[in-house]
Formats: sequence, structure tokens, C-alpha cells
Amino acid sequence: MTLPVSEIEACALEDVDKADTPSNLQLVRAKYLGRKGLLTVRRRALKSLPVASRAALGREINDCANKISQVIESRMAVLKQRAIDDALRREALDVSLPGRRQSNGSLHPLTQVMHRIEDIFVGAGFDVVEGPEIETDYYNFTALNIPPDHPARAMHDTFYLDDGGKAELVLRTHTSPAQIRTMEARNPPLRVISPGRVYRRDSDMTHSPMFHQVEGLAIDRDLGLAHLKGVIGDFLNRFFEKRLAVRFRPSYFPFTEPSAEVDVQCVHCGGEGCRSCKYTGWLEVMGCGVVNPRVLRMGGVDPDAWSGYAFGFGVDRLAMLYFGVADLRQFYAGELDFLAQFDRL
Ligand code: PHE
Repeated sequence: MTLPVSEIEACALEDVDKADTPSNLQLVRAKYLGRKGLLTVRRRALKSLPVASRAALGREINDCANKISQVIESRMAVLKQRAIDDALRREALDVSLPGRRQSNGSLHPLTQVMHRIEDIFVGAGFDVVEGPEIETDYYNFTALNIPPDHPARAMHDTFYLDDGGKAELVLRTHTSPAQIRTMEARNPPLRVISPGRVYRRDSDMTHSPMFHQVEGLAIDRDLGLAHLKGVIGDFLNRFFEKRLAVRFRPSYFPFTEPSAEVDVQCVHCGGEGCRSCKYTGWLEVMGCGVVNPRVLRMGGVDPDAWSGYAFGFGVDRLAMLYFGVADLRQFYAGELDFLAQFDRL
């Protein structure tokens, strides 16, 4: 009934051979030599044998145990070495493999254009200031001489924030509130531009509900239309990197008086007439004017001592013209194939 020791040994050798990891081999050791191992149990059973037959069987068991122990030792050495070799092979570094190329990012075309605009105005002595995108009705409209019944305040033009029906908070519809905030924060003479996001309920090929404007404001002694014309003309020539005809058309803004709309000679056809300029030869690029004395007063500036000019234009529109992009929405689609074309850094 009990297995001959030689057979236990044969089984053990086979088990050792089959063990393919150090931990499997530990299990084999336990099975034969452990506290409840087959050989241990047999050794313990010697006690119940007649003294005469103990010695021979005992020696046989010990020899067998020693043999198994040795075989396990040497097999253990082999398996451990193999585990180390495997790990090394997994971590091997093939220095002859070609490297993985890291693709360079680039600034968004609108950011690039914004930077160019800031550079030009900073070069002309303007500071760059920023205002909040969530504005109060006061800064966005009232202080800019836009009366409560003005159409710009209509729900269909403006995003009002849910402020319990008070309609006091809006997403600013233009960067002009920066004019008032600047006058409140600084004393004249001053020259600033204020770039940033603005919001209107508009969406098509050439309008996005969120777009970018740059506001300009200069206040000094006797500043007027002539200075405005000089600065704007210079800016447009520098921005488009060529001499372009610029014209001022009379217009109306509540916060400037007189007011004008600025057109620039079409950058694409040079004035011949093309689709970009709707065959007029001109592109409308900004609004501007001499700051209305009422607005100066709202900003705490004495209109008898100081005067100034202001202008505001859309960055997205200038970027479309500069890069020759027909659909404004492409700037916001997040398509890398489109954006990668403007890698001009
Ligand atoms: N805020 C005006 C607009 O968004 C532009 C403007 C700015 C006009 C400053 C005159 C002076 O259309």
C-alpha cells in the first residue's frame, strides 16, 4: 500500500523536471520534503517498525531525501538564472533602432496673429491691458453711452447670464468696456490696447458666437482724428506687410464722435474686385472714432483738458484675410491638418 521509496524518488525527479519556475519548484520541495511531505511522513512512520528493519529503510529514506534536495537545488539555480535572463531580455535596449520623432506643436493661428498685433502696437508705445469676459451691463453698455433701448442690448444679440432676472451680467459683446476700466485705473496721458474674447449670438461662415477683438484707446492733450488715421494706417500696413490704401467712412458708434468705419484695399485682388471683397475692392476691418466726451466723463476724465481716440477690430477677420482662410469656423474646429499649415514659428 505504501509506495516504495524508489518510486517516490522517481515521481519526485519527474516533478522537479516539470517545474518551470522557482515558485513551482518550491511547491515540489514542500510536496516531498516539507513538514507534511511524502518522505517526511515516511520517516516519521519508521517509529512503528520493528527496530531491525528501521536502519536500512531509514538510510534509504535519507539517501532519497538528500538526492531530491540536491536535484532541487541545482534545478533552482537553473530556473533563477533563466528568470534573470528573461527579465534582461525584456528590458534590452536596441540602440540601433530609429528614434521616435516628437512632433512639434505650434501656436494657434489666432494666437500668432494676436501676438503680431500686440508687437506692432507695443512698438508704437501702447500698453497691453485685459478686461473680464463676464461684464456688467454698466461697463458693456451704459458707461459707453449705449442707452437702455439700444438694439445692441436685445436678447437676440447678447448672452445675458442667469443672475436671477436682473440682466446685469453679460458676456461682453465687444472689448470697449476696457476703455472705461482703463480710464478708471489710469490717469491720462495713456495709450493702451486690450485684446480678448467677445461674444455675440451670431453663427455662420464669417461669424462665430465667440470671437476676438482688440480695443485701442489713446488719451492725451489735443488728440484727434488725424492721429487716429496715422496710427491705424500704419498698423494696417505693418500687419499686412504691404502698403495698402486705407479709407475712413463716416459711421456711428454711441461712444465715439465723430465715428468712422475703416476699409482697407482688398489684400487679395489689390482693389480689382474679387469674392473676398464682394467685388467692391475694399475690406471693412474696424470701427473707430474720437472718444465721445460723455464717455470720457463716465471714465472720470475731464473732456475740457483731455481728448482721445478709440478703435476696435476683429482679430479673427484679420486672421482670415492674412492667412487667406474662407471659413472662420475652421479656426475653432480643432483639426490638426488645418492648424498644422500655420506652423510659422
Ligand atoms: N466696439 C465696436 C464694435 O464692436 C468697435 C469700436 C471700438 C468702434 C472703438 C469705435 C471705437 O463694433
